[in-house]
Amino acid sequence: MHCVKKITDDLMWVGANDRRLAMFEGVYSVPGGVSYNSYVLLDEKTVLFDTVDKAVRQRFVENITHVLENRTLDYLVVQHMEPDHSDTIQYIADTYPDAKIVCSAKTLAMIKQFYDFDADSRVLVVKENDTLDTGKHTLQFIMAPMVHWPEVMVTYDRANKTLFSADAFGSFGALNGAIFADEVDYNKDYMDEARRYYANIVGKYGAQSAELLKKMSSLDVKMLCPLHGFVWRKNLTDIISKYALWSAYEPEDHGVMIAYASVYGNTENAAEILASRLREKGIKTQMFDVSVTAASEIISAAFRWSHLVFASTTYNAGIFVTMEALISDLVSHNIQNRTVGIIENGSWAATSGGQIRERLAKCKNLNILDKIINIKSGVKAEQLLEIDVMADTIAATIKQGENP
Ligand code: FEO
Repeated sequence: MHCVKKITDDLMWVGANDRRLAMFEGVYSVPGGVSYNSYVLLDEKTVLFDTVDKAVRQRFVENITHVLENRTLDYLVVQHMEPDHSDTIQYIADTYPDAKIVCSAKTLAMIKQFYDFDADSRVLVVKENDTLDTGKHTLQFIMAPMVHWPEVMVTYDRANKTLFSADAFGSFGALNGAIFADEVDYNKDYMDEARRYYANIVGKYGAQSAELLKKMSSLDVKMLCPLHGFVWRKNLTDIISKYALWSAYEPEDHGVMIAYASVYGNTENAAEILASRLREKGIKTQMFDVSVTAASEIISAAFRWSHLVFASTTYNAGIFVTMEALISDLVSHNIQNRTVGIIENGSWAATSGGQIRERLAKCKNLNILDKIINIKSGVKAEQLLEIDVMADTIAATIKQGENP
């Protein structure tokens, strides 16, 4: 049976939620599920904005059929070709043979890569700021390459001042009956998942995300309709201001994320002592055992906090395996503008600290503290003093306002 949501008098949400997906993109756990959003505009012409993942195809089909009633579909706007939004294009193409496909030239090429139907004969290729009149509404197409794939575009409905924003402003998490961000306690229950979504999915492309924000600044946007998560119709600055920080790799909060890799608990002990010293100075801390917590959670936290500390034992003459994966992931996600402390452990030949420093040197504008705290097996009085110094140094940079 259909399950649709009314957004405005002539705009309907026809997406669906998936709570059975174990790993989004095969990598990111989604314990709260995920929504695949798709929208139908019922103007003089009918317009479908993107499709959904094949996992929720049945509900999507029921929703579209219900919303269109006896009308046909005139346009399918394809903003993003990642299969979580494009898996059902073939169904739409077959079911509505007169529907025109509105997309960028790059999207057309990808449609042909993914599908075999004759896309050329029914495509309407659009460029930056091209428009399409559908009756009362005028749709303006705006390219947003690499937010998150190169073919991405977003669509501004000038009548409703609505931005169909593709992956931008999306979030992990099923909608649980709501559709608007103001229906839930977003900051408390969803902002962490919005950050985790941004940091991991789009985080590498900060410059491109900032470019989209710049383009948006010339538009009067009153509503955001992303492809995942909630529709924003109130307090849009809550999420847009976060995107401004995240896309610039600027931290949200003063505080220290401490990620540690510890085989027998001695490196963890050093991390715990550091966290304790920092708290005594009134500094917020968040700790992760990188062997326990998924990297996506830690990447997300790294986008939040101003200071990062990595503590790792030495393993196979290098960085411990889970920490090595985390550091590699962070470098891939372009983390920047942070103060970083490093603690290493090695019972006979510690190398992990130097190797962490070497890997992080690829990132822009990281203030990596000169002193790597070196532990030989267990924390001794000498390292206690060094941990105190690291805590003092971090506290001083926070108090000096160097970060964020
Ligand atoms: Fe939700 Fe980049 O796809």
